[in-house]
Amino acid sequence: MKRDVLSVPIRIRQAQRSDIPHMARIWEIEKGEGGTSEDRMSAYFEARLHPQKALLPRVIYLAEEAGELIGYIAGHLTRRYACDGELEWLYVTPQRRRTGVASNLLLRLVAWFKEQQASRVCVNVAPLNTIAHRFYARHGAEVLNQHWLVWNDIAAAGRQHEENSGGTVAGLR
Ligand SMILES: CC(C)(COP(=O)(O)OP(=O)(O)OC[C@H]1O[C@@H](n2cnc3c(N)ncnc32)[C@H](O)[C@@H]1OP(=O)(O)O)[C@@H](O)C(=O)NCCC(=O)NCCS
Repeated sequence: MKRDVLSVPIRIRQAQRSDIPHMARIWEIEKGEGGTSEDRMSAYFEARLHPQKALLPRVIYLAEEAGELIGYIAGHLTRRYACDGELEWLYVTPQRRRTGVASNLLLRLVAWFKEQQASRVCVNVAPLNTIAHRFYARHGAEVLNQHWLVWNDIAAAGRQHEENSGGTVAGLR
């Protein structure tokens, strides 16, 4: 079995306001799922933009390799679909995909949701985004409806990661 072990050393840290333009820039390579414009990201970060039924607590984590931004994940507390939390964006630069970056970002967000006592977590995924569907399924998410997946207990994503990786987060600094 392939493991969610990082093949490159990366650092994961919480985003600052000054990181937002860099996040938007890496997303703009494709402008697909997993992000949005700098204006909308800034408004989300500053709690001026609220996805449907979002509550105020929210967080963004970044993955960096040698000081360069290679991915990010964002999430907030919510009341949408009777969930406690929502994964808002997840994006990894094309050159760094399939090396475990997103798995490790997800693990960090899972820890934040647990700190917030959020256990049921949902994520919106386009039906044709088969890669994202596979990614989330690999981490224990189930289909809620055509556009949404759900973890009834987000701790399952952390446990699934440990199973996939043999309990390691190699490469993380
Ligand atoms: C989805 C995405 C975040 C995954 O990031 P990643 O860092 O490549 O993911 P990981 O390396 O941690 O992959 C873990 C698992 O996800 C699945 N996966 C990832 N990329 C895949 C691909 N190209 N084909 C099939 N499965 C894939 C696999 O199950 C993989 O495990 P494996 O390599 O052991 O088979 C990345 O492809 C991306 O940024 N896509 C564009 C933005 C997007 O769609 N975001 C999600 C919005 S909801």
